[in-house]
Amino acid sequence: MNQPRDNWSSSAGLVLAATGSAIGLGNLWKFPFITWQNNGGAFVLVYLICIVAVGLPIMMAELLIGRRSQKSAVGALKEAAGPWWGIVGGWGVLAGFILLSYYTVIAGWSLYYFAQSIGWSFGGYPAGMAAGDLFNEQVGNAGLQLMLSLGFSIATIAVVYFGVSKGIERIARIFLPILFGILLLLLVSALGMSGSGEALRFIFRANFGELETSGVLEALGHSFFTLSLGMGAMITYGSYISRKQSIVKASGAIVALDTLIALVATVIMFSVIFSVAGMSDQVSGSPVGMLFISLPELFYTAVPFGVVLGPLFYVLVALAALTSTISLLEVVSSYMIDERRVPRHKATILCGAAIFVFTIFAALSFTGTPFLATLEIFAGKIGWFSTVDHFVSNWMLPTGGFAITLAAGWFMTRNATERELLDGTEPRWFRYGAWRFFIRWVAPLAVGAIIVSVILGRDFS
Ligand code: TRP
Repeated sequence: MNQPRDNWSSSAGLVLAATGSAIGLGNLWKFPFITWQNNGGAFVLVYLICIVAVGLPIMMAELLIGRRSQKSAVGALKEAAGPWWGIVGGWGVLAGFILLSYYTVIAGWSLYYFAQSIGWSFGGYPAGMAAGDLFNEQVGNAGLQLMLSLGFSIATIAVVYFGVSKGIERIARIFLPILFGILLLLLVSALGMSGSGEALRFIFRANFGELETSGVLEALGHSFFTLSLGMGAMITYGSYISRKQSIVKASGAIVALDTLIALVATVIMFSVIFSVAGMSDQVSGSPVGMLFISLPELFYTAVPFGVVLGPLFYVLVALAALTSTISLLEVVSSYMIDERRVPRHKATILCGAAIFVFTIFAALSFTGTPFLATLEIFAGKIGWFSTVDHFVSNWMLPTGGFAITLAAGWFMTRNATERELLDGTEPRWFRYGAWRFFIRWVAPLAVGAIIVSVILGRDFS
């Protein structure tokens, strides 16, 4: 290539951008909900184990594969493990394409709720309005849905257009501190509520009698999704790391921050729910319900300073989603840039536009549109949105992740991976030996178990 490759300006730049990718709707929307469904405590503990035993080693594997080749997913896997492995990279790019196409729709909802909640803060929450009706109304309004997703897509494209250090890193540097600040405010307010003790007990007191095998697999599957693993997103971000930065430290920081934020979000939401009499029986049967149906009203009826915190909460959701959508678009665009030699500006706009075509399908699957609303390929997954979500979370991410563990653990030479992980002086057994054991044995067996259970009919989405 004639231009030098754009890199993160510093180690903090990488950590912030990758943490931004990891923290997203998975943390705010999915994790609290599955924790609720699986009765907290034991599930949370198992999740933490999965994060450390499976998520962390794969995070290190993806970053090192990327840094070694300084190429995005397809090129990096080819160089790391052999020409055929380009297919695994391509599978990841496809996963990024599809995931972004429907993730944007939910991200768009946060814009709607932000606008609504600003209105409520000034005008008061409409008495007697059923939050569920509001949700159904917005989601069924085709014009509105298209506008919201288009808005979010344009924001995503605009960031990626400016490249790695001037676009993605800059946005992460500005937005992540804001996101942490908002969460802290929410946490302080939530901990002051009467339900916070019960919430903390629910989340942190493990009772293994309440955990089923399916919960273990769900924890494992989610640890993948929440860390943005299995599709080469972290390979791509790793390809912008310069030689001087430590992969081990960066991975530890990214994984720790993502986990912390998921836990904090859960403490906040559960404190609110447990503070309102009867609320815990009403939390509706879907993650969408918690974030967009139960919470909006509670901000105005139960949460101290809710008139300020309500809108801020939806800003938080939007910022968290945006730092994830930019990394998804980067996976797809960087393929065009590195492998097809398309200039960045053109690649970003072309990929963004192509993905938006499918966003339209996802957005319209809630509006009763024929085919999009009724399609059923996987039993019980009705409509375009649920179908593609099921396909990506159940099939694409686990198979992609499995292949990546094999590439790093079995197909790359010991020398090659050792050189990336060690900076010369470290105690070897700790930094390298432990990683190698986990990436060769623990991670593939665990991810293999997810794949087998999906084949046997288990559902993660
Ligand atoms: N980690 C994101 C979240 O928790 C979702 C996600 C999965 C993702 N894979 C990704 C984001 C790849 C960016 C790139 O919401």
